[in-house]
Amino acid sequence: MSHWLTVWRAAQLLGVARGALQQQVRDGTLSLSDGLVSTDELLRLYPAARLEASGLLDRVALIKDEAFGRRVRERLLPSQEVLAQRLFLQSQELADVRRHLQRYHALVVELQQCVRALTASRPMDAALHDLEHALTNGLARALATEPVDLLDVMDDMLKVMSAQVTVRPSGHQFTVEGHDTLLQAGLRAGLKLNYGCGNGTCGMCKVRVIAGEVAQIQPFDYPLSQAERQQGYTLACAHTPASSELTLELLEARGPEDIPEQEIVTHVRAVTALAPDTRLLHLQTPRSHRLRFLAGQSVVLGIATPGNDLQSLRPVASCPCDDRNLHFFIARDANDPLAQRVFDGRLAPGAAVTVRGPLGSFVLANGSRPLVFAACDTAFAPVKSLIEHALALDDAPSLSLFWLATRSDGHFMANQCRAWSEAFDRFEIALSANPNAAHGAEDIARSMRADLFEIECDFYLAGPAAFVQTLRAELRTAGVPAAQLFAQVIEPETLESAA
Ligand code: FES
Repeated sequence: MSHWLTVWRAAQLLGVARGALQQQVRDGTLSLSDGLVSTDELLRLYPAARLEASGLLDRVALIKDEAFGRRVRERLLPSQEVLAQRLFLQSQELADVRRHLQRYHALVVELQQCVRALTASRPMDAALHDLEHALTNGLARALATEPVDLLDVMDDMLKVMSAQVTVRPSGHQFTVEGHDTLLQAGLRAGLKLNYGCGNGTCGMCKVRVIAGEVAQIQPFDYPLSQAERQQGYTLACAHTPASSELTLELLEARGPEDIPEQEIVTHVRAVTALAPDTRLLHLQTPRSHRLRFLAGQSVVLGIATPGNDLQSLRPVASCPCDDRNLHFFIARDANDPLAQRVFDGRLAPGAAVTVRGPLGSFVLANGSRPLVFAACDTAFAPVKSLIEHALALDDAPSLSLFWLATRSDGHFMANQCRAWSEAFDRFEIALSANPNAAHGAEDIARSMRADLFEIECDFYLAGPAAFVQTLRAELRTAGVPAAQLFAQVIEPETLESAA
């Protein structure tokens, strides 16, 4: 008998990208009923689906090294208490189903005996004989052993190991693995969740549990009132699902306009050489005051030294899901006071840097078109953040990255790009070099025309003005509608003033 799964769960079971299944739905090879897909349909499309095909099971089951295996299991599996609660709830469900089945069985046997008694008293009644045959054959069929539905077994197994959360009213879904809180898992999945401190004191991550159960896994100080608790309110930053399925009611940000401006004093965690002329500036916020931002946004970095204040607008290169650790790419530039401090060691680990923001609206738009990213040199920063966000959302049918280097070490994270391309079938990269940003943009436009113009895509362009304006004009001339073009001019902008 066929079982019904959400697309999200089906992708998790098969170990394929959700975007790949959604594409099959769009092109008609996979059909949905009420938003669900049947296991029969999935096995038709993926006849080789095996228990090991599920990424999560695979990762846990195949680890032979005991110490490493323990660490991975600790990361992927929830705590013993949460596992026990999920198993308990699943066993309850199973016991309910078993009790129902026994009642139905007893009912059918009772009916069969009634009909037999009637046929004995009315031997000439053909309709009664037909009914008795139908009952006897139906009962035999129901009691016959059928091969188990492997995907159904896998689904039950995954329900214990990872929980699926559905968000109302948006309908977004995400899974919670390991020791993640609801907030961490939601941010990792690319959702624009409402929150503040991330550690249980502000109450901004309050959500209402509509169905399912949660377990507290982090301490929290925020006092939820008795009325709030009775209505099902809980804190996303301190709880994880205790049931395998959970429905939450919560408000998500619609876009940059819903993210409040913040000012946080951070400290330099590290300055790392990515290439001879490029540094990774790693700032860390206090545990109780993290930066809420959207992928692709920028912040103003402020450094105060005796007699001198410096303010510099920089795009964040890291993922909003890690809101304590903020990354920035800094290129060597004699005219940029921030770059000078980074390269000559004045901005060293432990130094205080004020972060103000987030700013800008260079963020992913809603939609299901293929995504094309184009970046020049260190303007790869917001593009990297957007790509990580798109991969977490797993909605886009494909992603392509065109990265122009105008400097000798302009491709300072080429290995990261190759790793994406190897890990995701639908991710393509094209690295190019040209010392002139405008000419490099023309080269990229030519490559895009050769590879992409049969497809309707959303284009995200980031770089210096010459790069962005040239590429934008080329794409418009080639017929790309303005609504599918998102551009951000990024030039190091540092203001220094006497304090
Ligand atoms: S984010 Fe502040 S209490 Fe959860």
